[in-house]
Amino acid sequence: MTETRSAPTLEGWYSDRGEISDLIHRLLAAFEEGEMALVTPAFREFRKVILGHLSIEEEVVFPKAEESHPGQAQPIHSLRLAHIGIRADIARIGEQIERSHLEAARAMLDAFLDSFGAHERLEDQLFHLLKSSQSA
Ligand SMILES: [Fe+2]
Repeated sequence: MTETRSAPTLEGWYSDRGEISDLIHRLLAAFEEGEMALVTPAFREFRKVILGHLSIEEEVVFPKAEESHPGQAQPIHSLRLAHIGIRADIARIGEQIERSHLEAARAMLDAFLDSFGAHERLEDQLFHLLKSSQSA
């Protein structure tokens, strides 16, 4: 699944965060309703945006960070590797939704959001590192 986006930038990457947060709230609200008709589109939109966000990180953010901060190569590599787990978690949640197993999907989503939140906080630190080096 490929989507067309304008040229990715650090600012665009950062502003995605707000959209992702909104989509998480929409998805959780859909689960609260317990309606497949709400959960399915909310999950698809969430998945589309988050997978695009990961791609921007891999194609733009991480290479820039590696170039400007070669000493941070190992933590950046760890963030990259974590994307494998993020994609796998999203795929597993999607499988449960496709089977209409909403309770299982919700439990997996809750666990995912905890680990994803921690991942995002680490990337926030990376972003601030990049911003400070750009303005230096
Ligand atoms: Fe990431």
